Amino acid sequence: MGRVRIRARCEQCAHIEAKWLGQCPGCRAWGSMVEEAAPRQQAGRPDTPRATGPPRRPARPIRDVPLDAEQCTPTGLGELDRVLGGGFVPGSVTLFGGEPGAGKSTLLLQAADALARSGRSVLYVSAEESAVQVRLRAERLGTLSERLLLASETDLDVVIGLVEAHGPDVLLVDSVQTIRDPDTPGGAGGVSQVRECAAALTRCAKQRGMACVLVGHVTKDGQLAGPRVLEHIVDTVCDLDGDRHHALRLLRATKNRFGPVGEVGCFEMTARGMVGIADAGRLFVGEAVDGIPGVAVTLALEGRRPLACEVQALTAPTSQVNPRRVASGLDGARLSLLVAVLDRRANVPLRNHDVYASSVGGVRLSEPAVDLALCLALTSAATNRAVPRDLVAVGEVGLAGELRLVAQTERRLAEAARLGFRSAVLPAAYDGGAFGLRLHRARDLVQAVAAGLG
Ligand code: TYD
Ligand code: MG
Repeated sequence: MGRVRIRARCEQCAHIEAKWLGQCPGCRAWGSMVEEAAPRQQAGRPDTPRATGPPRRPARPIRDVPLDAEQCTPTGLGELDRVLGGGFVPGSVTLFGGEPGAGKSTLLLQAADALARSGRSVLYVSAEESAVQVRLRAERLGTLSERLLLASETDLDVVIGLVEAHGPDVLLVDSVQTIRDPDTPGGAGGVSQVRECAAALTRCAKQRGMACVLVGHVTKDGQLAGPRVLEHIVDTVCDLDGDRHHALRLLRATKNRFGPVGEVGCFEMTARGMVGIADAGRLFVGEAVDGIPGVAVTLALEGRRPLACEVQALTAPTSQVNPRRVASGLDGARLSLLVAVLDRRANVPLRNHDVYASSVGGVRLSEPAVDLALCLALTSAATNRAVPRDLVAVGEVGLAGELRLVAQTERRLAEAARLGFRSAVLPAAYDGGAFGLRLHRARDLVQAVAAGLG
């Protein structure tokens, strides 16, 4: 038995040093290093052969691997199940990320209740709110199933003790940043704490075949200790996204070992909790009447789902040397680029104008497919001519002002037709179906603007 070796680990970036330092050499933060016991050296020299044991599960021909091994537990909330790829998988760990106030606790409490009602035993551990607070929320949401167990705990060992005592099918921990492992130095929420807690709960979930859901707070730029360092430990990562000032919430799976990624679920935050929106329809299209300049509609693809989304633009003359380019819900760099392309390639006078552009309903549009609609909205704002309200625009714009076809244009048009749009502006290269829409095929921005603002 040797002496316990001490080393130092940075609480912020997890950098390890042989001794304590005032400033972390890894991330240059001051006072972030804490001392901890170094893990013991593995017994045996590296060149001694490893002892082997009989395999627990022998290898077998790939064709004989059963396909139904991963059985999902559907939550019964359609939009959540769609994103998860069917439901929570026993023995798996799901990280549920999002900004504070996004609605993570609300949605998971609803999911916990729905699972409990379908006969699963569910343990909801709140490490942020007291049991009374959660109960009050549950009263409002009407989620008071008998099989839903609730505990307010922050100590990891106690949480694992609760799991052992109750043996739940599903464990929800809200949040992973507020529980603390007493054997790991540092305060709750630090990198080593979050990592240790998640690792311990993951082991527990795998051993018991229990589905485990960890809530993790993320700031706007995805920062803050925690969720990002966990992404490779957990099986599934979901992000709940939405503007605090809008009721709409989008849930996306950014990693999923058991289902599709890129699926998106739409929810509305109401007084009675999160309500799934199976048909987003015209949710992201504003109420502007025909004849209002500066608005245009596109079909954006969220996961496999085409969504009709409106973009709005406003231009105002300025004598500033650097006119403003302000984007909300849209990519700012893309906006600047398109303004320059319109100015140079389509003679739309924007160089001496401030330009503001935004999406509607708090949705974030980052696809190139939005380019053409944004160009039409900008041109419409700058020239005071309106785009017809029954027209959609789908296409990417190149630096030369040329139009490029985007993926799944046909599916987008089909959805546009279903929603009652009558015509579409799109790249000349499109040779798919029209679905009853009047199609304006354009080779470049000049032709597209002529067709769209006719
Ligand atoms: P919450 O689930 O606490 O968010 P998170 O856990 O992600 O931090 O809910 C966030 C907001 O939602 C909060 O500001 C209040 C609001 N809310 C509703 O509008 N309706 C409801 O039924 C509930 C429970 C909350
Ligand atoms: Mg919460």
